[in-house]
Amino acid sequence: MTLASTKGDRHGADGAPVAVSLRKVGVTYSPIGRPVLEDISFDVREGEFLSIVGPSGCGKTTLLRMLAGLLRPTTGDALFNGAPIIGPSRERAIVFQDYTNALLPWRTVSGNVALALEKTVPVKAERDAKVAALVAKMGLAHAADRFPTQLSGGMQQRVQIARCLSQEPRIMLMDEPFGALDAMTRQTLQDELLALAAERRTTTVFITHDLEEAIYLGDRVTVLSANPGRIAEVIEVDLPRPRNQLTTREDPRFLAHRHHLFGLLQGH
Ligand SMILES: Nc1ncnc2c1ncn2[C@@H]1O[C@H](COP(=O)(O)OP(=O)(O)OP(=O)(O)O)[C@@H](O)[C@H]1O
Ligand SMILES: [Mg+2]
Repeated sequence: MTLASTKGDRHGADGAPVAVSLRKVGVTYSPIGRPVLEDISFDVREGEFLSIVGPSGCGKTTLLRMLAGLLRPTTGDALFNGAPIIGPSRERAIVFQDYTNALLPWRTVSGNVALALEKTVPVKAERDAKVAALVAKMGLAHAADRFPTQLSGGMQQRVQIARCLSQEPRIMLMDEPFGALDAMTRQTLQDELLALAAERRTTTVFITHDLEEAIYLGDRVTVLSANPGRIAEVIEVDLPRPRNQLTTREDPRFLAHRHHLFGLLQGH
């Protein structure tokens, strides 16, 4: 790895502080296999909300797992706050795509959300209050004492999101977190997430299959192409914040972005 030139460089080309920096990253799972990701270079600015879209199998989950420190790049450098990502950290919270394996089955909803707080908030009453607030925010107050097997997919996913938020991370890495939710819950949680990310100035990398969701949430949308996964395009989303489920989605700029992204993913 060639870290000397990049270590400590915490600012992007436009001078904004950078949280994540990827430099010519490639990932190959097997020594004889083809690369899954190739030549991936981008920055995520501090406090930015970056959406990532791309066809199934193009390497989105692989990219997120690498940012979480769950796998190392085969080539290139992956940096967080200027230091190489060499393993998982409390500062980088992940919401997994596969929610069926993401929760501890022997812990209740509250118990799962409390996990990250057990070291940082030793006073039980204080911890319980924080957990209860997050569980309520995710619309799960009535299910606080249930176990994961007693929850629907959408409910399990909301527990994961609450657990991620409880960690108060510097960056949230979210892999299609709203994929299993109905349309109304999805819109409510989109707005909750935007409000929380803005309030805490938490950098967010958000993967989705849904182009409209990517535009609605993001400051930028990165489009990956498949075989191998490469960056096809990065678009700046020039829509005012706070976003609004009606007016933002009706804005001609929103529709233009949607049109453009749709064309890109259809290969036009
Ligand atoms: N642990 C692994 N070992 C070998 N190959 C893997 C592994 N994980 C993923 N792959 C392969 O890497 C490629 C990218 O997988 P990945 O899960 O990152 O795609 P994705 O973009 O998240 O797809 P989806 O949109 O369906 O979730 C696929 O071809 C997949 O088969
Ligand atoms: Mg995936």
